[in-house]
Amino acid sequence: MVLQKTLLAASRRPGLRRMVTGNSATRRVVDRFVAGETLDDALSAVEALAADGVRVTLDHLGEDVTTRTGAEHSRDAYLAALEGLARLGLGDRAEVSVKLSAFGQALPGGHDIALELVRPVVEAATAAGTTVTLDMEDHRTVDSTLAVLAELRTQHPGTGAVLQAMLFRTEDDAKALAVPGSRVRLVKGAYNEPPEVAHRARKDVDAAYARCLEILMAGPGYPMVGSHDPSMVTRAHELAAQHSRAADSWEVQMLYGIRPDEQRRLAAAGTRVRAYVPYGVDWYAYFVRRLAERPANVGFFLRSLLTR
Ligand code: FDA
Repeated sequence: MVLQKTLLAASRRPGLRRMVTGNSATRRVVDRFVAGETLDDALSAVEALAADGVRVTLDHLGEDVTTRTGAEHSRDAYLAALEGLARLGLGDRAEVSVKLSAFGQALPGGHDIALELVRPVVEAATAAGTTVTLDMEDHRTVDSTLAVLAELRTQHPGTGAVLQAMLFRTEDDAKALAVPGSRVRLVKGAYNEPPEVAHRARKDVDAAYARCLEILMAGPGYPMVGSHDPSMVTRAHELAAQHSRAADSWEVQMLYGIRPDEQRRLAAAGTRVRAYVPYGVDWYAYFVRRLAERPANVGFFLRSLLTR
């Protein structure tokens, strides 16, 4: 828990980044979780996954932008990504995930800026026959992100959102979003949240995840089970059977590079599986959150530093 808190704090500081960049051994650890720095790298990863029957949501890395220009850059990067995906002709088997902090959400007037800049991305996705999912960041952004979602869904009902089971509010949010056509990715939550707003103990987060999963799987929406946890994936299959859900009415989502064999196995066995594929030069905060989730990865990473 102490290591996790330290790493999550480090994800907002550039020090570790300097240690990793330029070191080929540590770079290989980053490459396990990040598909590359360019759109071409990402599209190659998308094609490889698609060949294995695994769907994709593409994430152009970047968050917490501090200028409008930076936010416009995110919009443009996503428009280029959607053009690239359209060329692959995968339809909704390849969509995109966006962080609204990359679209200026934290700037003064940021809610409106993020909505203005993400709208053309959602329009381009609809035109390409696919969708956008709004990632969820720390708890202070949830109201704004859900309000952007509600606005976008009036014209683009396929726009999806993420709910974090660790937040106390999430069961209510899951009930509100369990409506027809609603795409909701349920995750445990990757941010270092204070005890006033979130479960902190793993067993409490897991119990909350299971409760939210029941709400979403029982409802008329499209649940996206974002977890590598075998017990949650098994529970999702049990609930799908219990509620007579068709195989195309829900999906499992996992991160690029985490349990890839299981992603392929589930897809081959008939479960819809989507990998979340991050790419871009701004990989640092994403990478450190992945280390924080799993002490074994920190050991792997530290050993690679010693073998430079
Ligand atoms: P948990 O962490 O309990 O791990 C269960 C098992 O999975 C582990 O025992 C291990 O076997 C494997 N595993 C998990 N993490 C691993 C890792 N890093 N390396 C190797 N093995 C690992 N969060 C958020 O706050 N906002 C968001 O928008 C998103 N978006 C998102 C999209 C998708 C598709 C996924 C899968 C996850 C997210 N997350 C997220 C991250 C999420 O909140 C959570 O931090 C991670 O998924 C880890 O939680 P698990 O449910 O996998 O279980």
